[in-house]
Amino acid sequence: MSSRTELAEAEEYTMNGGDSTYSYHKNSRFQRAATDVAKATIEKAIMEKLDIRRFSPAPTTFQIADLGCSVGPNTFVAVQNILEAVRRKYVTQGLSSQMPDFLVLFNDHASNDFNTLFASLPPDRQYYAAGVPGSFHGRVFPDASLHVAHSAHALPWLRKLPEELLDANSPAYNKGRVYYISAPSQVLDAYAAQFAKDTAMFLSARGKEVVSGGIMVLLLPGRANGIAHSCVLSDVMFDLLGACLMDMAKEGKTSEALVDSFNAPVYTPSPEEMTAITERNGCFSIETMDLTPFNAKVDGSAAAHACTMHVRAGVEGLIGKHFGSEIVNELFDRFFEKAKESSDRISSAFLHGCQLVVVLKRK
Ligand SMILES: C[S@@+](CC[C@H](N)C(=O)[O-])C[C@H]1O[C@@H](n2cnc3c(N)ncnc32)[C@H](O)[C@@H]1O
Repeated sequence: MSSRTELAEAEEYTMNGGDSTYSYHKNSRFQRAATDVAKATIEKAIMEKLDIRRFSPAPTTFQIADLGCSVGPNTFVAVQNILEAVRRKYVTQGLSSQMPDFLVLFNDHASNDFNTLFASLPPDRQYYAAGVPGSFHGRVFPDASLHVAHSAHALPWLRKLPEELLDANSPAYNKGRVYYISAPSQVLDAYAAQFAKDTAMFLSARGKEVVSGGIMVLLLPGRANGIAHSCVLSDVMFDLLGACLMDMAKEGKTSEALVDSFNAPVYTPSPEEMTAITERNGCFSIETMDLTPFNAKVDGSAAAHACTMHVRAGVEGLIGKHFGSEIVNELFDRFFEKAKESSDRISSAFLHGCQLVVVLKRK
């Protein structure tokens, strides 16, 4: 086992567990759309980039990891896509006789609802399954043990918030806001720097865990180079959430001090940023980095409802912990109304929306 210093301390922001109305299980259609869009890229990457002949000795167990898997069902779709592509690759390369067993390692924070995940594992799966708890910003798997690593919509979650956001003497003090939209540039810079640091830790850990010739696929909400964060769908949603919280503070339904001390722990990078971080790290070559259109267009009140459920499934726990669970229902009722009022902004963000699909290969 690697030394404990390689295990990363991280805040745990897990999605709503279970399978009730506000669960992630029932409210992750945007992420599912992204997984479907990435399917072709993943197949191509496995057919063209995964170097199975370089694995020596030939593995009897082929290990696939999904980092930040949450509770399903998207993770099952993603790993099935990977597994089918790998099986096809063995067959087309004339290696059917060496077809390995498959072990899928589902990683997330220890506080993730792994019970829901395991209870809904596909009964007809062609793989062994195991859960691996722990922050992916540090080591979670043994040296050179992964042949394909995958992570969808998890890297934008920061390991921790930059301290200067709460420092009244810092130019990055984020008073009266909960996010970087409409904030001074120093706030955005602090978020970007934290994302770069966290992603570098993620890449260093995977650099030790992915075998040479293995690949890693990363999916995350993306921002085209040069496009303002205020036009990006996931950023718009957090901006609206912040506006609702501030309205509630003005009406005395929560305190301004609580708003000032809360910041949403997510960041949306551009391809330029991801390229710079990956090249600085040096463990992986960048095989492809595509911005693909968002494939989940909905309009008007349906969009407002979908956005409300999406955000609630992701941050209800975090909001309840910071502000108290008694404000949650009213907050998301207000969010729904605000999202309806902002339907032009949301529609345009859907239109410009995109996700980043990054294929890396372990050198
Ligand atoms: C939006 S969900 C994505 C779930 C799934 N990959 C999908 O596409 O539907 C993000 C997940 O990443 C997990 N996550 C965030 N930071 C993490 C970390 N440092 N280590 C492990 N998991 C993390 C969260 O707990 C959450 O389950």
